Amino acid sequence: MIEIRHGLAADSPAIARVRRDSWHAAYEGIIPAPIIDRATATGAAAADPPPYRRTLVAEAGEHPAVIGYASFGPERAGPGAAVGPHPLTQAGPHPLTQAGRAGLVGELYALYVTPDWWSAGAGRALMGRVLASLETDGCRRAVLWVLADNARARRFYERAGFAPDGGTNILTGLGGVTEVRYSRSL
Ligand SMILES: CC(C)(COP(=O)(O)OP(=O)(O)OC[C@H]1O[C@@H](n2cnc3c(N)ncnc32)[C@H](O)[C@@H]1OP(=O)(O)O)[C@@H](O)C(=O)NCCC(=O)NCCS
Repeated sequence: MIEIRHGLAADSPAIARVRRDSWHAAYEGIIPAPIIDRATATGAAAADPPPYRRTLVAEAGEHPAVIGYASFGPERAGPGAAVGPHPLTQAGPHPLTQAGRAGLVGELYALYVTPDWWSAGAGRALMGRVLASLETDGCRRAVLWVLADNARARRFYERAGFAPDGGTNILTGLGGVTEVRYSRSL
């Protein structure tokens, strides 16, 4: 039995473990292992999550434990949009796109399930709750970014109604891997 609930501050260590284990299992051969180690080290995740980010966790097992999580919120600005101050106002770049700020486009920032629980329905249950939540908030579209070489996740997202929409980005901090944007209407 898999239960989905809102994430709490106390879930942070369990979420970090899920992230580390699923990164190693999913990205081996795509991202160099030392980079995975560095990116998923304890404390690598922001200590202060941005106020617009929401987190759901999946719990399962005889003694219920966190086996997966999803984080989501308004669409974030891409790296191009986030570089440098605004030329007119000199204000810093806004972390969200205009459509995100207007509440029209939501983004799935992260979705990870611990490898022992892959293919047991947790990802699908988390995705269902994320989409329902964005829809309730009035979003018209949902977007997400996935590594181009992550075939398993791409198949999963396609079954959830997403399709590549042409957006691409190179993650220089992760060894120059390419991610592609998927989106769907709500
Ligand atoms: C991708 C991931 C989140 C999927 O979670 P999961 O819990 O394994 O997925 P589920 O058990 O809910 O899905 C079970 C099956 O139903 C299918 N399915 C999922 N949603 C579906 C839907 N809406 N309609 C029909 N079939 C669906 C899936 O394709 C999957 O088939 P498979 O096991 O043959 O691949 C998980 O495998 C994972 O964490 N992978 C590593 C990290 C990762 O790549 N995260 C995404 C980063 S962008």
